[in-house]
Amino acid sequence: MSRLPEFHAAKWDEPVIMELGRPGGRGQIFPKPESEIEAEVGADLIPAGMARKDRPALPEITEFEAQRHYLHLSQMTLGMMGVSLFGTCTMKYNSKTSEYATLRPELAEVHPYQHPDTLQGVMGIVHDFDHMLRSLSGMDQFIFQAGGGADAAYTMAIVARAYWADRGMLDQRTEMVTSIQAHPCNPATAAAAGFKVVNLPLEENGYPSLDALKAAVSDKTALIMINNPDDMGIYNPEIKEWVRVAKEAGALCFYDHANFNGVMGKLSARELGFDACMFMLHKTFGAPKAGGGPAVGAFGCSDELAPYLPCPVVAKSGDKYILDEDRPKSAGKVREFWGNIPQVVKAYAWARGMGAEGINLASDISVVANNYMDKRLSEIPGLAISNPHISANRMEMTRWSFAPFAKKPASEQLISPIAWRTTASTPSG
Ligand SMILES: Cc1ncc(COP(=O)(O)O)c(C=O)c1O
Repeated sequence: MSRLPEFHAAKWDEPVIMELGRPGGRGQIFPKPESEIEAEVGADLIPAGMARKDRPALPEITEFEAQRHYLHLSQMTLGMMGVSLFGTCTMKYNSKTSEYATLRPELAEVHPYQHPDTLQGVMGIVHDFDHMLRSLSGMDQFIFQAGGGADAAYTMAIVARAYWADRGMLDQRTEMVTSIQAHPCNPATAAAAGFKVVNLPLEENGYPSLDALKAAVSDKTALIMINNPDDMGIYNPEIKEWVRVAKEAGALCFYDHANFNGVMGKLSARELGFDACMFMLHKTFGAPKAGGGPAVGAFGCSDELAPYLPCPVVAKSGDKYILDEDRPKSAGKVREFWGNIPQVVKAYAWARGMGAEGINLASDISVVANNYMDKRLSEIPGLAISNPHISANRMEMTRWSFAPFAKKPASEQLISPIAWRTTASTPSG
């Protein structure tokens, strides 16, 4: 019998390291130098004029205390992975073979400051992966500079700003339209780029109505940002119409493809009419989340938006790969260099391993597996599905809450693993 913890991640009442320790605490006690060495170089290795007069104001702590301190901090940062399987970003498989690929010295020991002639192999991988994502989305160019999904959403916001500024319309196109079920990074990054955010409420079917969208967009709309399926796993079947309405008002359309797992190979952002999209390599393509970064948000766009992309863009010129920096209209950088390339290599290895058919099949399996889980979870008393009044099918993810359970008196918050097993019915077929 175990009591359900009320936290979602490890929490320690951890002081800052400067508050730890006591006089005399030692991490390492170095042995005295051997007499032969002392005879050769003298006892005082530091010249008198350079030796400090006072003790440094550093905490005096033992090695174990230092280790425990940093372990506690890491558990608070990464512990969410262990306790609550940090959200949607753990949906896919992080294969060890992809990890090994990035440990190879040809990759692990290169640096983006090297001459591009010595980076042809890794640039070839980036270029090939760019093309794979183009075929999955229909976009014309991908870059991997963004450090995660939110950073890729920010890339869209600054690309849109540069696009409207270039047309002398930034003073007019001031608004970004999204829904309250968008990931918070959509409104947050648009606001950070200076846009006013218009948030549409959800209808009974789980997404905002077309009428609400029609009322919200106008010649003031710079862009719309949508994730679909959203973070409840609900797919908006009117998406094509949404894009048409937004385009009719002259707005740019951005597809936050964070939840691509359920629709991989089934639809193309460009065919739906979007101007740009982003994929999270750590959510869909077998690269690890890395605790909020360093990850990669792959940002792809149409030829029309490509001049505004952050630089450099890995491109091919004849037989050679080059770093294209000559983009005078570029919106500026969102991160250093051309991105976290080992993550791109992991995603590339995963995509090559899966192949087009495997990727397509994986999306079927993610939907079946999610709905199987939903069925089993719905049989556990005390668990509640998010927005239970919405009857729409959930695709590759669903949010569940222990809220009804947590409201019970503490004496009833006892879970027997045996009860769990017997409550949920045996799967058939
Ligand atoms: C729909 C959606 N967009 C964006 C993000 C942000 O991604 P990241 O955490 O990599 O910044 C997430 C995160 O899960 C998401 O679910």
